[in-house]
Amino acid sequence: MNSCYTICLSLSLSLSLSSSSFFFVFVQNFGTAAAASYLNFFCPRNSLFTPNSTYESNLNTLLSSLSSAATNSTYGFANATAGQTPPDRAYGLFLCRGDVSNSTCNDCVATAKQRILRRCPNQRLSVIWYDECMLRHDNSSFFSAMDLRPALMVQHSGNITDPTAFAQVLAKTLDKIATRASNGTGKKFAVEEVIMTSLRRLYTLAQCTPDLTALDCNSCLRAMISNLPKGRKGGRSFTLSCSVRFEEYPFYNAPAPPPSYLPPSPAPTSAAPEIRPKGKSNKFTVIIIAVTIPLGSVMVLLSLICCVLRRKGKKMFEVIKGKNGAKELTAVESLQFDLATIQAATNYFSHENKLGEGGFGEVFQGRLPNGQQVAVKRLSQRSKQGDGEFKNEILLVAKLQHINLVRLLGFCLEGEEKLLVYEFVPNKSLDYFLFDPQKRRQLDWPLRYKIIFGIARGMLYLHEDSRLRIIHRDLKCSNILLDSEINPKISDFGMARIFEVNQTQASTNKIVGTFGYMSPEYAMHGEFSVKSDVYSFGILLLEIICGKKNNLYQDEYLAGYAWNQWRDGTPLKVLDPAIVDSNSRDQVLRCLHICLLCIQEDPAIRPTMTTVVLLLSSNSITPPSPRHPAFFVQMKGLESDQSTRRTMPLSINGVSLTELCPR
Ligand SMILES: *[C@@H]1O[C@H](CO)[C@@H](O)[C@H](O)[C@H]1NC(C)=O
Ligand SMILES: *[C@@H]1O[C@H](CO)[C@@H](O)[C@H](O)[C@H]1NC(C)=O
Ligand SMILES: *[C@@H]1O[C@H](CO)[C@@H](O)[C@H](O)[C@H]1NC(C)=O
Ligand SMILES: *[C@@H]1O[C@H](CO)[C@@H](O)[C@H](O)[C@H]1NC(C)=O
Repeated sequence: MNSCYTICLSLSLSLSLSSSSFFFVFVQNFGTAAAASYLNFFCPRNSLFTPNSTYESNLNTLLSSLSSAATNSTYGFANATAGQTPPDRAYGLFLCRGDVSNSTCNDCVATAKQRILRRCPNQRLSVIWYDECMLRHDNSSFFSAMDLRPALMVQHSGNITDPTAFAQVLAKTLDKIATRASNGTGKKFAVEEVIMTSLRRLYTLAQCTPDLTALDCNSCLRAMISNLPKGRKGGRSFTLSCSVRFEEYPFYNAPAPPPSYLPPSPAPTSAAPEIRPKGKSNKFTVIIIAVTIPLGSVMVLLSLICCVLRRKGKKMFEVIKGKNGAKELTAVESLQFDLATIQAATNYFSHENKLGEGGFGEVFQGRLPNGQQVAVKRLSQRSKQGDGEFKNEILLVAKLQHINLVRLLGFCLEGEEKLLVYEFVPNKSLDYFLFDPQKRRQLDWPLRYKIIFGIARGMLYLHEDSRLRIIHRDLKCSNILLDSEINPKISDFGMARIFEVNQTQASTNKIVGTFGYMSPEYAMHGEFSVKSDVYSFGILLLEIICGKKNNLYQDEYLAGYAWNQWRDGTPLKVLDPAIVDSNSRDQVLRCLHICLLCIQEDPAIRPTMTTVVLLLSSNSITPPSPRHPAFFVQMKGLESDQSTRRTMPLSINGVSLTELCPR
């Protein structure tokens, strides 16, 4: 799990770096085990500052000074300010978990500093939480002030068998450490281990930022304690000023005072003692408890734990609504837009605002009242599911947040209208550049490589690192949007979920993929998996390095042509001449090699996205030799008739042609 996590982390770290220095960071981080475990971030969306402003430079100064303060902070804490005059003055602090070493603290703050700017670009106010540290900045002073919003909670999905007895012990222990932490003079930090049975322990932690008074710290901790989940094996609850956590396994390093013994209490029901989980268990649920920030269009950014929660196949998720009715804003509500707002934003879906038409409906550009640009997808299809399920799926898809994914900001559901609101990505889609003889020249090799890498990372996130395993099923050039810095952003992911298409097998008439990008098993039998996405990724990669569509090309599909050239030792013939020079040749060829691995006929031997990212990022790993690619020969005039598609698995000598006709 550590190594997985490290990958994620380094991937996100790399964003601002050029590709060559990126490799360095990537490999370096990959080798270190002690990475910060990302938890969550928060940035209300209506406090943007102007890029290149004085505030921005102050913020950068602030973050740098916090980062250097972390190398040697007395209490794992420091506050700082940058800039003199109030509107441009930036305030910030970090707090490391009380038990971590200075070097862990330093690493965590350095990571947080990088990440916070990516997660919350141009935000005056943001906070990011890790297991090991928290980093926060604002344009007004919050030092020594207790702040309880937003409050977040993470719960272990495992239930305990003896909730009543457990709750008593837990309450008593938390009470004790809350008092101890509040009265702390340096750090406001306390942990306690309780021996429940011979096999079972309880570990607890409480911490406040040391700038709080004892009274405030105590109030903050009590509030968080009341937010903890009930009946669970573990959980934590945290906010800007403090945090509490309990688990049945040790999650902190501090040599705690000798464990206290549980006073013998009658265990009413459970006969069999529970076995303590081995190591860190990873089934958790994250819940927003009470985000009642009174800001116009607050977006609750509940982005889930990157890799810590990674668990193939089984993913658990639940969203619990706030307990106090109207006072609490549930996650669903915060994602919901009024129809009137969207109508005003898009000028009543005017023709001028139309950006295009995708598989699921028309897309319009709009501007929200707070000035934010958005793209609104007006869904044409009715999905089968009810509104509740629709909202749930939206909520899940909205949680998929990655620099290389177009972000879903919310939705609108009124009457017949079903609208999805996305972040607006300014630079059109990749095909607009790639397949235009003039515009193609703007994409030199370093840019194309950046695009390839970004797409690979986005796909890796969808497949492995998000809490849900999302199979895209329609990865293609026109679904890759480019932002102003030519970062690729994958769009249209999660649509199958929103439309409740069967998650394991598509019936043939529902295939959502696009011809040319579909793997044979998907096109012929409707079978899709992460490996069918890998196939589409391979085709996309091919198109990027060839600057051509995977259409018929010299009597063959581009993919077949590329394979033949590779086999004949003349791979350079297939590449876009505009991008191949002596500097880029080896890297371009390596990408072609990876592409051919991705489009192999047998899904089992296609690499996973994890492997693809590794192969792309390290030149020291030699990829295996590709075997036969699979691709379609589409007979002229029969394009729309599914029953006449043929696959042509190409044999080594390129002549044997197997015809497979699905029924
Ligand atoms: C912080 O920024 C907000 C706008 O985002 C502004 O309304 C507020 O006055 C600023 N605070 C200070 C102290 O300058
Ligand atoms: C900010 O500055 C950088 C370099 O100094 C420049 O490339 C960028 O276009 C500027 N952005 C804005 C919004 O002015
Ligand atoms: C840190 O916060 C305290 C108030 O809690 C303030 O007096 C001090 O000036 C701050 N330090 C810096 C470097 O801003
Ligand atoms: C734990 O209990 C809750 C209700 O008390 C239930 O919804 C949930 O499914 C249970 N979880 C497990 C893993 O048994």
